[in-house]
Amino acid sequence: MLRLARRLLLLATTVTIFGTSPATAGGNGVVQTPSIFTPASTPAFAIRELALIVLGITGVIFVVVAGLTVYALMRFRRRRDDDGREPPQVYGSRQLELAWTVIPILIVVVLFLVTARYIFAIEGRPQSPEALEVTIVGHQWWWEIRYPRLGIVTANELHVPVSDPAHPTPTFITLQSADVIHSFWIPQLAGKMDVIPNKTNRIWIDPQEPGGYVGQCAEYCGLQHAGMLLIVAVQSKEDFAKWAAQQQAPARNDAEVQAGRELFSSLSCINCHAVRGTKANGVFGPDLTHLMSRWTIGAGVIQNTPENIRAWIDDPASLKPGALMPAMKLSRDDLDKVTAYLLALR
Ligand code: CUA
Repeated sequence: MLRLARRLLLLATTVTIFGTSPATAGGNGVVQTPSIFTPASTPAFAIRELALIVLGITGVIFVVVAGLTVYALMRFRRRRDDDGREPPQVYGSRQLELAWTVIPILIVVVLFLVTARYIFAIEGRPQSPEALEVTIVGHQWWWEIRYPRLGIVTANELHVPVSDPAHPTPTFITLQSADVIHSFWIPQLAGKMDVIPNKTNRIWIDPQEPGGYVGQCAEYCGLQHAGMLLIVAVQSKEDFAKWAAQQQAPARNDAEVQAGRELFSSLSCINCHAVRGTKANGVFGPDLTHLMSRWTIGAGVIQNTPENIRAWIDDPASLKPGALMPAMKLSRDDLDKVTAYLLALR
């Protein structure tokens, strides 16, 4: 119950972020509550279709079984003029036993074949040349997002262009893990796909409506498994191109944060974080080149505000207990300098 409440709170935060952010993802700018019944991408449409077929078949079974049970209860209930004798007892009926063995087997075979057909149809889709190529690496507890052909590295917020069904521009995602097993799941866009160390999995999405879609790690992966959210921002082609150009730009090099930049480069920050074009080239933590272009920090756990950035550098565990980044234990003055530098990374 507590976990559910926390999850809802996280989602509510994400919704507000999209509502107030200057860099709204396009569309109505509101992250919809994830529901498998409101798909927005071909694999999710297929999954809903399959779910309705299965629900239909099992619904008929339920009505027949429940109907017969109710009928038997009513028809053979104890009556006032009952003489109290046992009814005739029946032992063994080849016909009946065959029927209740063969019919369920046939139903299971039908369900299996229908499901297999959908799985092969989704997985067998060939990658078109227009497809966007993305590599996503699961970490404890955040998502690393790479666009190898565009030279972009970001975290926790996947931007993709909207895919017009008449001229599809799907996104093909290669999934890898840096540590333990995670699971990549954006309910409205596709099914779940495990993210496994030393194994590469593939999944694709073709979101047909601009807007924000919330995803969540779906495989227990440690303390902050619930704090491993993912936002998919589906943008018009123009907005996506603008976002990509902004992400490809080198990190800003503002003169007024010179002190913070030098301090940052002298600290252990650079062993884990990268800022493109500087000597910070760590890969254990999120790339910070355009940190302030993101809505959240800590993989959807808190909003990306100057106060939260400062509190995070000071002690990440105060905002996300268990986060693997250590408290930096900087003096107030140094903390202000590093914060100012990170806030300039737009
Ligand atoms: Cu990553 Cu659960």
